[in-house]
Amino acid sequence: MVITRTREELYKILEEFSKKPGKLALIPTMGNLHDGHLSLIKLAKLKASKTITTIFVNPLQFGKNEDFKKYPRTEKLDIEKLKKEHCDILFIPRNGEEVFSKTEKVTSLDSGSLGSELCGKIRPGHFNGVLTVVNRLFELINPDVAVFGAKDYQQQILIKKMAKSLHPQISLIKAPIIRSKNGVALSSRNNYLSEKELELAANLFKCLQNSVTSYQKREKLNEILDNANSFLVSKDLMPDYFELRDSELNIISKNNYIGKKIFLGSVTINNTRLIDNIEF
Ligand code: PAJ
Repeated sequence: MVITRTREELYKILEEFSKKPGKLALIPTMGNLHDGHLSLIKLAKLKASKTITTIFVNPLQFGKNEDFKKYPRTEKLDIEKLKKEHCDILFIPRNGEEVFSKTEKVTSLDSGSLGSELCGKIRPGHFNGVLTVVNRLFELINPDVAVFGAKDYQQQILIKKMAKSLHPQISLIKAPIIRSKNGVALSSRNNYLSEKELELAANLFKCLQNSVTSYQKREKLNEILDNANSFLVSKDLMPDYFELRDSELNIISKNNYIGKKIFLGSVTINNTRLIDNIEF
């Protein structure tokens, strides 16, 4: 694996790789890699012959009181894991300047009304920061393929919309959610939780599963949502939201059985916010 920390070197490496045949797949991450991230690389390798992972904890997507400073940084371990997956290139910028240079104008993107719903309601500006950095990485790397996880479903939909207008040549791939044995979706933020809290966290997935079953049994949506919220509270998981949407994240207020749907939930447990969803 070739590792680069500067943009200048990145350009040279990309130039070299462009001479090799096949497609280039990009897997953007913020590091602290777990099996969820690694599944994206495995999937990328099925779709393209060359892979580039980026590790950049993007300050633009963190709110003032959020965990930018304490976000887990585990560079050495991450590099070992990427080598095992046979990732070809790692871009791990030595500082923010390598991504957003002070001498260039940053194209700040606006995530629109969907960017202020669901997670965006709890994290104002977060998705503007995500779109701004992903657009920047797309500009710097210009991959043929880019892979994003379904765990961050809203992020994936917003990136899909952004790419459709600004980078139509890039094919986006959605990777399924990887979970631990007890059902908790893997996340770098799970590191903040104790064993006991992780056990409680499994109830978010249970709640999503129960809600899907109830919906398929044609129970009333408002009752399903009420039951879900009470269930989560009873398990010490404070719901930030729990909603049913269509697959493009349009609001659904009444039961209907046409087209794909998704239950999405976010809960806070001991100051740590977890998200999960089930599409059906
Ligand atoms: P990060 O949280 O590091 O996640 C990087 C990618 O891994 C995202 O596409 C995310 O959806 C995916 N991922 C995380 N946990 C997963 C799991 N359990 N199963 C499957 N995929 C999973 O998401 C970000 O970073 C950032 O917002 C980023 C897109 C890199 C922009 O800064």
